[in-house]
Amino acid sequence: MRNMENFFKRRFNVPKRTSELIALVAISTTLFLFLHTRDLNTRLKEMEVRLHPDELLSSNQLISGDSGPAHHPSSGVRAMMKILQSAGEVTTTLQPFQLNNTRKAMQEVLFFNRVPKVGSQTFMELLRRLSMINKFGFHQDRVQRVETIRLAPEDQAVLAAMVSSYDTPSVYIKHVCFTNFSEFGLPEPIYVNLVRDPVERVISWYYYVRAPWYYVERKIAFPDIPLPDPKWLKKDFETCVLSGDRECRYMKGETREGIGDHRRQSMFFCGHEEACTPFNTEGALQRAKRAVEQHYSVVGVLEDLNSTFTVLENYVPRFFKGAKDVYWNEINQYNTINRNLFKPPVSEEIKDIVRKNFTKEIEFYQFCKQRLHNQLAALKLPEQ
Ligand SMILES: *[C@@H]1O[C@H](CO)[C@@H](O)[C@H](O)[C@H]1NC(C)=O
Ligand SMILES: *[C@@H]1O[C@H](CO)[C@@H](O)[C@H](O)[C@H]1NC(C)=O
Ligand SMILES: *[C@@H]1O[C@H](CO)[C@@H](O)[C@H](O)[C@H]1NC(C)=O
Ligand SMILES: *[C@@H]1O[C@H](CO)[C@@H](O)[C@H](O)[C@H]1NC(C)=O
Repeated sequence: MRNMENFFKRRFNVPKRTSELIALVAISTTLFLFLHTRDLNTRLKEMEVRLHPDELLSSNQLISGDSGPAHHPSSGVRAMMKILQSAGEVTTTLQPFQLNNTRKAMQEVLFFNRVPKVGSQTFMELLRRLSMINKFGFHQDRVQRVETIRLAPEDQAVLAAMVSSYDTPSVYIKHVCFTNFSEFGLPEPIYVNLVRDPVERVISWYYYVRAPWYYVERKIAFPDIPLPDPKWLKKDFETCVLSGDRECRYMKGETREGIGDHRRQSMFFCGHEEACTPFNTEGALQRAKRAVEQHYSVVGVLEDLNSTFTVLENYVPRFFKGAKDVYWNEINQYNTINRNLFKPPVSEEIKDIVRKNFTKEIEFYQFCKQRLHNQLAALKLPEQ
């Protein structure tokens, strides 16, 4: 009788223990996964700080388009994977070699396809002075009646051939879309350019074309161009945005030709193709990013000139050695090139309205900024 009881007890005890064991395993697995996720999140935070020492924008930027909030573990892991994918080995090793497109150049010609309203007059002056110090040729395009930035393939070929015919080393400067020299069987030049906060840039353009010296200069160069309508001249940016004026309406997918689509700096990096023309579209953004990654030695950032100079001096030393000194000691001291005194301040509310329609432009700007910071970090310079 006793044995029988024990037998039953044992029989029923065994399955009970098994289920407890299963429960225990499940709990510890969950706990492990939780800890692991937390660990990944901590590492993600550390990486964010390393990627963007001065701001924590990058994670939001990178996971925008995902549904979960940034602090949710799974979206954190997703964001980390995205960072790893987009930055590749760069985040872990940061070797200047991998970020140095200058070594791909097959001729010592610097191709600076400057973007209007991104400090390009100042940079042109800097390059002119550096051409005397560092001994290289200086060439720039003439002022055009109509500035055509998108060229037909034949014209791209003519441009690339002309630039390739200069004595080396030389710099060539023109407002033009990214022109892929190797597409025409010509040796790759050294590509450099500069970007700026895209909304600040569009405001700057708006007041630039209304500044008296701009249209007076144009009138002198091309007397038959009519003077602008005073009503148009007096219209301010805020009113233009709030009243839904066509000039200040930024619609996704819209294409504007004529003097070129001055609203988008990414167009200068995307190229001459039709696919580059629609405003704020994913396809054009991806092309622009690819051209920067594959071809550009340095894309500087107007808001961060010191990092820009340091990166230029280290990645393109043949042309930019001494750039920081020349800028701060010679150009910045006396120079007021293109400082538009006719540009009134624009409120943050208005800028925010415009920003909502400039998402791809902003993403492109952030991309260039992050790349510049990676290039700087890779140099592992002592803190200043
Ligand atoms: C922004 O885009 C929306 C359409 O997506 C449009 O209704 C709105 O007018 C645009 N705003 C500005 C300031 O361009
Ligand atoms: C430039 O042209 C070369 C040769 O045709 C090609 O391999 C490369 O992908 C092109 N670059 C871009 C950004 O399209
Ligand atoms: C940039 O460098 C110059 C000269 O070295 C210095 O005067 C200036 O304060 C620096 N600007 C910033 C924002 O660090
Ligand atoms: C990048 O490559 C150029 C050309 O080979 C070289 O002069 C420069 O020192 C390199 N810079 C870095 C940081 O590797």
